[in-house]
Amino acid sequence: MAEATAVPVTALPNGVDMPMIGFGTWGLRGRDGRAALRAALDTGYRHIDTATMYGNESDVGAVLAESGLSRLDVFITTKLPPRRAGREHATLAESLRALGTDRVDLWLIHWPVPGPMLSEVWRDFLALRDQGCVRAVGVSNYSLAQIDRLIESTGQAPAVNQIPWSPARHDPALLAGHAERGVAVEGYSPLKGTNLDHPVLAGIAASHGVTPAQVVLRWHLEHGITVIPKSSHPERVTANFDLLGFSLTPEEVERIDGLPRR
Ligand SMILES: NC(=O)c1ccc[n+]([C@@H]2O[C@H](COP(=O)([O-])OP(=O)(O)OC[C@H]3O[C@@H](n4cnc5c(N)ncnc54)[C@H](OP(=O)(O)O)[C@@H]3O)[C@@H](O)[C@H]2O)c1
Repeated sequence: MAEATAVPVTALPNGVDMPMIGFGTWGLRGRDGRAALRAALDTGYRHIDTATMYGNESDVGAVLAESGLSRLDVFITTKLPPRRAGREHATLAESLRALGTDRVDLWLIHWPVPGPMLSEVWRDFLALRDQGCVRAVGVSNYSLAQIDRLIESTGQAPAVNQIPWSPARHDPALLAGHAERGVAVEGYSPLKGTNLDHPVLAGIAASHGVTPAQVVLRWHLEHGITVIPKSSHPERVTANFDLLGFSLTPEEVERIDGLPRR
């Protein structure tokens, strides 16, 4: 098992550090999913992104248990499906049981909860955090207007908003809006939304001796965005984590901003 290298972290409230490179697990289940999770932990990932909706929390729990790693060494995120709004306690209890732990590091509301429930669910999230079942709470796929409603009703901003991000989706105003509110941006689908054959990426990758996928993932880090690539192939799992041996110049970052999607 590799030692976790010095992955940069995003500082969340209450002293919680979120590693900026995480392992996405959407679609990873059963035997093959567990093999990919093992490869991720062996590589050095110490941040795993799962969700009730992915149906793989028990796979994550099993692989963590057999890894021999201390629970404190791995940052675990899971998510509440909006259809479970009003059943936060029971859903979190199920997640904790499946993951084999007594608390998760980050719990997100997976998609915006409709109407008046928006603030109610957020209140329950804050209460469960205060009870110590989760270290940090946040949202996913929320607009800034929806985040403002949470802040207005409770005085507390989500620690994180997990949203789709990639060069094609790059939006400096949206990033600035999150920063103003003290909300960390965690980007999902970094590779799916990108044309990895684009000549700009190919050129930059060649000049650093890395792959276009690594350039795209590193580009997220340069913008201060936590990134959670998923792969079921061990060699890609490893390469996607290998982002700290090179960096992009401001000019390279600017050339990648806004590249078209595939
Ligand atoms: N909050 C939300 O609503 C939400 C929504 C979507 C995703 N997510 C989270 O974000 C994670 C990442 O997003 P994602 O899974 O949608 O997309 P992604 O990580 O951008 O892309 C995954 C796809 O890219 C391929 N891939 C991985 N590494 C590659 C590489 N080095 N070169 C070329 N292709 C590569 C994978 O194929 P192989 O597996 O065959 O390698 C897979 O088809 C998810 O797993 C999930 O944890 C959250």
